[in-house]
Amino acid sequence: MRYVTNSEEETEALGVRLAKRLKSGAVVAFAGGLGAGKTAFTRGLARGLGVTDRVTSPTFTIVNEYQGGRLPLFHFDMYRLSSSDELFDIGWEDYLARGGVCAVEWSENVSDALEANTVWVEIVQGESDCQRVIVIEGVEL
Ligand SMILES: Nc1ncnc2c1ncn2[C@@H]1O[C@H](COP(=O)(O)OP(=O)(O)OP(=O)(O)O)[C@@H](O)[C@H]1O
Ligand SMILES: [Mg+2]
Repeated sequence: MRYVTNSEEETEALGVRLAKRLKSGAVVAFAGGLGAGKTAFTRGLARGLGVTDRVTSPTFTIVNEYQGGRLPLFHFDMYRLSSSDELFDIGWEDYLARGGVCAVEWSENVSDALEANTVWVEIVQGESDCQRVIVIEGVEL
């Protein structure tokens, strides 16, 4: 499905909607360049899961973990990884097995390791600075 948002808040709201559909073990893989809105969308996922902690970018830590919601949220930023071989080092398989939701920024860098049941979220710039076109595949909202 294709959505158009005109603010960060609208993108977050789409994340809230998606969160309601996610089951234990879900993987949400983002594609879209710097500043596309992946972290904003993930903030919505957190809110939709009932996480109350503030979601910040995990760029320097690779993964941030949020408990207290309907499911745990593992927020990955794969920007610094150059191939899926490096997933082993960050314990990706262990996170998958923990039955939470894995939200993956820069999934392009590890896409060959993601399974067929992944939810794909592609975010691209729209016609103005604050517009984004968001294509969601793998789940119905
Ligand atoms: N419709 C929109 N949806 C989301 N963000 C928007 C929108 N319009 C403008 N923005 C702005 O774009 C930026 C998105 O930042 P965000 O950190 O979410 O991007 P990102 O994809 O996670 O980037 P990075 O690859 O650097 O992690 C914010 O500054 C936000 O205010
Ligand atoms: Mg980000």
